[in-house]
Amino acid sequence: MARAHRIAVLGGDGIGPEVTREAVATLQLASEIEGFSLELRDYPFGAEHYLKTGETLPPSALVELGDHDAILVGAIGDPRVPVGYLERAIIAGIRFGLDLYVNLRPVKLFAEHLCPLKGKGPKDVDLVVVRENTEDVYVGIGGLFKKGTPDEIALQEMIFTRKGVERVLRYSFDLCRKRGRAKKLTMVDKANAVAAMDLWTRAFEEVGQDYPDITRDHAYIDAACMWMVKNPESFDVAVTPNIFGDIITDLGAMVQGGMGIAASGNIHPGKVSMFEPIHGSAPKYRGQNKANPLATIMAVSMLLEHLGEVPASRTVANAVAGLIQDGRIHSLQAGVHGTDELGSMVAAEVEAVRPVAGR
Ligand code: IPM
Ligand code: MG
Repeated sequence: MARAHRIAVLGGDGIGPEVTREAVATLQLASEIEGFSLELRDYPFGAEHYLKTGETLPPSALVELGDHDAILVGAIGDPRVPVGYLERAIIAGIRFGLDLYVNLRPVKLFAEHLCPLKGKGPKDVDLVVVRENTEDVYVGIGGLFKKGTPDEIALQEMIFTRKGVERVLRYSFDLCRKRGRAKKLTMVDKANAVAAMDLWTRAFEEVGQDYPDITRDHAYIDAACMWMVKNPESFDVAVTPNIFGDIITDLGAMVQGGMGIAASGNIHPGKVSMFEPIHGSAPKYRGQNKANPLATIMAVSMLLEHLGEVPASRTVANAVAGLIQDGRIHSLQAGVHGTDELGSMVAAEVEAVRPVAGR
């Protein structure tokens, strides 16, 4: 029997549905060519659904999502809903609810002209950021007291657990090994100012003893931002707490050519995981065929790798890389190529690897 994968799809808000449409088409094509089947199920969560029903991500949906092999998300967020409400409920809800403790964010440049850094090319920009994804200020412990009064207090706790830090460090060391490149893991923190990050410092040393083949490197987050611009080639794998990972990966996205290409995986190894572009819902581009679907298509490539469909994953990533390298895709900015145009270009490239009968 052919391999089958059950995929939940949440197009979401703004440009989410249109970029997801192209990414799902790529996914379907790759499955046909590589000979596995897909069972896709759409979920309506996002602003429209919330405004209609008052529901963000109901607990039953989380259970259902957890019963898939992978989840593909477009984008969440809408100006009609209070800032961050849907993002916290849906994106963070899935990350936390399914314990997706790794946020894997590759920063890979495919063509020199897309890099805003002078003199840097594809050989200089090829790193991976591992963002811890279930702790830190994102856990939601805190709030507002005496809101709107002169005595107002706002509090948000930054939480790290030994278990949570250790598992993401182990994942990062293992990833370094698997990549087999510089074999250098850079821990990015702010232990000089935030005393709680001493836990990261000690865990890094201790876990590192199990990985004598991996060089341990360290940078404070402020300096890491500086290095990312000055010497991106100095990074192989970088591991960092949730909030710093959020910030440095937008910088990373620009270094690799922009938000139009940057993808991420929210991963719990061996379990259902969620894949999405790093960009947001960009409401101003919604429904205009201007949004770049490549980040979501690259998220599909990561999703396929997670499913163990490695050839399909490579076919998709190579299609995107090839189109950029030979200049057929000459810009990653919204509105330069159409959403459907980019989707069709990728489809044609993927189609080109289909084995021809009798050959
Ligand atoms: C990201 C986003 C989210 C985050 C937002 C939408 C909550 O910026 O995935 O990087 O902060 O994690
Ligand atoms: Mg972000």
